[in-house]
Amino acid sequence: MRRKVIAGNWKMYKTPSDTNKYIEDFKNLVANTKNEVIICAPYIDLFTLLEETKGTNIKVGAQNMHYENEGAYTGEISGNMLKEIGVEYVIIGHSERRAYYNETDENINKKLKKAFEIGIKPILCVGETLEQREQGITKELITKQVEVALSGISMEEIKKLIVAYEPIWAIGTGKTASKEDANEAIIWIREKLNEIYGEVSNDIIIQYGGSVKPQNAGDIFNMSDIDGGLVGGASLNPVDFSKIVNYND
Ligand code: PGA
Repeated sequence: MRRKVIAGNWKMYKTPSDTNKYIEDFKNLVANTKNEVIICAPYIDLFTLLEETKGTNIKVGAQNMHYENEGAYTGEISGNMLKEIGVEYVIIGHSERRAYYNETDENINKKLKKAFEIGIKPILCVGETLEQREQGITKELITKQVEVALSGISMEEIKKLIVAYEPIWAIGTGKTASKEDANEAIIWIREKLNEIYGEVSNDIIIQYGGSVKPQNAGDIFNMSDIDGGLVGGASLNPVDFSKIVNYND
């Protein structure tokens, strides 16, 4: 049985003092969950988040990293820097980064390689646009995204990967993929992983993301192949997010 992993993606929300207040409330609300809980925060909040979550079951992630260790890349943050302060996870290839910052499957691949090399666990995001879904090319597209992103990643490394299937048209729109469609897409991703890595693919966590809320989390997370979620908007409120984390209590 795979564990359920529920990650919050704060995007560009919350200051360090907001982070402080949030964790004060949130840590008690999720203290007894059976599920793994991660918060992916803006860089500037990471120190506070790491400090405030010490001794709790809440894990800490970043939302992006550069694929070089260091260099003349103004405004960027390297995986090494994240690793040194104790960040455990990093989101790679979120659709907002693909759309607004020209991230390609190729540079996502470089970032994944670097994350594995330095020992940060990546959450790889893949997903189709509404147009692509309507054209009937979802399967082809997301399996291609997975294939290119993982090129050259070893069998040992892959065990630590989390994949998040996030249909772009469901992100921040209030529209959720039907639980059947989400499950189907996740099965396609797992088949692709199985084709590349064999048996190990059965242990890889694959989340759903896109307008997950306290009201729909249980239905989605109870599907056969969905191993939890990546939650944007609803992770900004500690009570709402705790309800999602505690969906199976
Ligand atoms: P949403 O965002 O839950 O606000 O739709 C999900 C995400 O972008 O990871």
